[in-house]
Amino acid sequence: MEATPTLYTERLILRPLELADADAIQQQFPHWEVVRYLNALVPWPYPADGALMYLRHNALPAVARGEEWHWSIRLKSAPGQLIGNISLMNEQDNNRGFWLGPKWQGSGLMSEASAAVTEYWFTVLGRTVLRVPKATPNIASRRLSERTGMRLVGTDEGRFVGGVFPKETWEITREEWLARR
Ligand SMILES: CC(C)(COP(=O)(O)OP(=O)(O)OC[C@H]1O[C@@H](n2cnc3c(N)ncnc32)[C@H](O)[C@@H]1OP(=O)(O)O)[C@@H](O)C(=O)NCCC(=O)NCCS
Repeated sequence: MEATPTLYTERLILRPLELADADAIQQQFPHWEVVRYLNALVPWPYPADGALMYLRHNALPAVARGEEWHWSIRLKSAPGQLIGNISLMNEQDNNRGFWLGPKWQGSGLMSEASAAVTEYWFTVLGRTVLRVPKATPNIASRRLSERTGMRLVGTDEGRFVGGVFPKETWEITREEWLARR
């Protein structure tokens, strides 16, 4: 199995997630602006060892099995600081997830990170479709999907950290992605 590579965008470095990232995730992740529209599987209140347990028992084993790909997000201008995470997953209807620490939201950074890993999904991993779930009130995430050519393909209801909300499934096919590049 190929090791997950480091990816680069105009402003960002996406570096494969590692156990040493636990402390930085523990600082940046457990904030309401980050977790409220994430899947209710995220423990909340977030335990003091939440990031370490997630890396050790969920993310890194899934990477080792070849089922998931996880990157820490860093600014090229400050590569020592983890500012968020972005992931790809083989899961049904749940192929990409991302978050940014509150300080870094709203500057278009995730649009860059998301484009880089979506390119990886279609051109390196060779997948034919990418599907993502999201809470309908998560306007920033929906805007990102709309602006990158994704289509709404289903609505449902989901359990999120912030409660039960309407939930949407968005998708883009490889042909659609390649046509937009
Ligand atoms: C969702 C998230 C990753 C978006 O990343 P980002 O870098 O902040 O997004 P961008 O700056 O590229 O903004 C995307 C769009 O949402 C809009 N937007 C950003 N924050 C917003 C807010 N709080 N309310 C309404 N719109 C917002 C932006 O104006 C932009 O719209 P535009 O394309 O019309 O200009 C980030 O907000 C985040 O980490 N949220 C918490 C975790 C999360 O919800 N992850 C996704 C789960 S599906």
